[in-house]
Amino acid sequence: MINDLTLNNFRCFSSLKIKLSPGINFFYGKNGSGKTSILEAINLCSSAKSFKSGNLQSLISIGEEAFNIKGFDNTSGYSLTITKEKTKPISIQLNNTKTTTSKLIREFPSTSIHNNTFSFADAPPDFRRKLLDKSLFIADKQFSETWFAYYRCLKQRNALLKSGSITNIDPWDKKLASLGNELTNLRGAFFDATLIELKDLIKNLDKSSSTKYLEHINVIFFSGWDKEEDLYHLLKNKRDIDLRRKSTTTGPHKSDIKFLIEDIEAKQILSRGEQKLFSILWCCAQHEVLRKIYNINAVLIIDDIKSELDDNTFKVFINLLDFLNNQIIFSCIDDHFSSKIESDFRDFKKFHVEQLK
Ligand SMILES: Nc1ncnc2c1ncn2[C@@H]1O[C@H](COP(=O)(O)OP(=O)(O)OP(=O)(O)O)[C@@H](O)[C@H]1O
Ligand SMILES: [Mg+2]
Repeated sequence: MINDLTLNNFRCFSSLKIKLSPGINFFYGKNGSGKTSILEAINLCSSAKSFKSGNLQSLISIGEEAFNIKGFDNTSGYSLTITKEKTKPISIQLNNTKTTTSKLIREFPSTSIHNNTFSFADAPPDFRRKLLDKSLFIADKQFSETWFAYYRCLKQRNALLKSGSITNIDPWDKKLASLGNELTNLRGAFFDATLIELKDLIKNLDKSSSTKYLEHINVIFFSGWDKEEDLYHLLKNKRDIDLRRKSTTTGPHKSDIKFLIEDIEAKQILSRGEQKLFSILWCCAQHEVLRKIYNINAVLIIDDIKSELDDNTFKVFINLLDFLNNQIIFSCIDDHFSSKIESDFRDFKKFHVEQLK
């Protein structure tokens, strides 16, 4: 968890120092005031990646040579420094020692929900797969080892397919199938646990008819191949097809999470606001699995929560805040919290972003 955050030459902030609450942190301010920038900086502290753009250089304030983010965790005493210079890769230092992204995501874990996540039922399969995998990377070291081994092996098999000669492909098929089954078992177990949390959240959140649709959404884990079939045999049988396509057409790299209402894809039925609430709930359910099963207190970051949500749906979100015990950081354009609502929450801290500059 980050308690003290300092930004230098990061987007619109030449210098900013804030103290975050260990409970709920609410940032509000008009368009362009810097809400997304602050949440982006906190997200960077737990992933070294931007959720807004793939290009870290664009986060350096215009006219400057580098940005610098410092974070301090009061509980662990850990300090974090992230620096990005225009011409150099990002540098991450934990307690003044250089560290890797995979260490960072475990030391400062977060779940980020932002613009792309809001319509994630509508996003391509790899988006949902990556979201599930991100939680697994945080939760389980074994998962990251298996994940890297699987994708290395997939690369080798695809290289053979591209070369046009598959006489030596059998050992790769065996290895890919074995790693693929392992990867899928870990994903499947995390998915099952998430589904239980999702149902629990839905049951407890709101009894009004406006969110009845949530109960009709059927969430299904697709492993990437027909699970009735043995993965090794499937890879073997598909060698000719794969050779023509020059890539492996089946396996865990095609895995997805499907949302169906009466066998129709939910994205075709749900309104945008409904999709947004559902996406938030799914991410929070993953977040709850991390907390309850793995004892990992990830920070929950939600950018621009109110847009597209009417007052009723927003109330559901407010109820949700009460369920989650971790540090929460979220933003809206307007201040939707009266002092009465604030006093109901644990450690609530409100930031008017225009006044921070
Ligand atoms: N590299 C940069 N250098 C300087 N300013 C930047 C840079 N990148 C973005 N900005 C500016 O930072 C300001 C804050 O952007 P940000 O996205 O954080 O605003 P916001 O409060 O989230 O607004 P909105 O309500 O529209 O989402 C904007 O005016 C933007 O143009
Ligand atoms: Mg924004």
